[in-house]
Amino acid sequence: MSGGLSYSLSLSREARSQIKGHQPCILWFTGLSGAGKSTIANLVEQRLNEAGCHTYLMDGDNIRDGLSRDLGFSDADRTENIRRLAEVANLMTDAGLIVITAFISPFRLDREMARQLAGDTKFIEVFVDAPIEVAEARDPKGLYKRARRGALKQFTGIDSAYEPPLNPELRLDTVRSGAHALAERVLTCLESEGIIGSGIRSLNSQQAGMAR
Ligand code: ADX
Repeated sequence: MSGGLSYSLSLSREARSQIKGHQPCILWFTGLSGAGKSTIANLVEQRLNEAGCHTYLMDGDNIRDGLSRDLGFSDADRTENIRRLAEVANLMTDAGLIVITAFISPFRLDREMARQLAGDTKFIEVFVDAPIEVAEARDPKGLYKRARRGALKQFTGIDSAYEPPLNPELRLDTVRSGAHALAERVLTCLESEGIIGSGIRSLNSQQAGMAR
């Protein structure tokens, strides 16, 4: 055993994940506000849960009201937000979970930091791609309108930068395909990466077929 502390953890990540029937991993969704990150991430989590996988979805709703309540939307605050998320995601994969994060995470360097932190744990960057015009037209929360009026400052895509991934494991084109089909692509990827078994996948295919 490494480390001399009497309270060092004696159970390994492998031992924890063995009882789950799947590998731990981080599915890191990134994209503009209104791109569809939460919608697709929720579908993926739902399917995985139905198939008996142990998951946790972190997104703006459950993080910005709690863990990151003290943070705003300056570049520095976004970087700190992502650092915290990456640390928490890492703890959860240590516990054996499939962790799904759905944050704008606009900066390449921050996403790269999250990947580095994951170490040997599989890190799958999922670029939820919607051009700014499309995201703005959807404007599900009316935030683009407020940003255009100048009532909301430092809004991503308007007066704050978004750096699209250059080499994401997955790019989901939300203009061409619907959320169910895109969720299916994520599941296919998890299978081909050996995170989930093919039994889980075929169960999900049947359910996706029913949902369409
Ligand atoms: S991130 O840039 O730090 O990754 P995060 O995903 O946590 O952002 O939060 C984005 C969500 O906060 C948006 O979906 C939107 O609902 C809300 N929000 C409020 N103000 C802003 C802003 N200035 N820029 C982007 N999103 C904002």
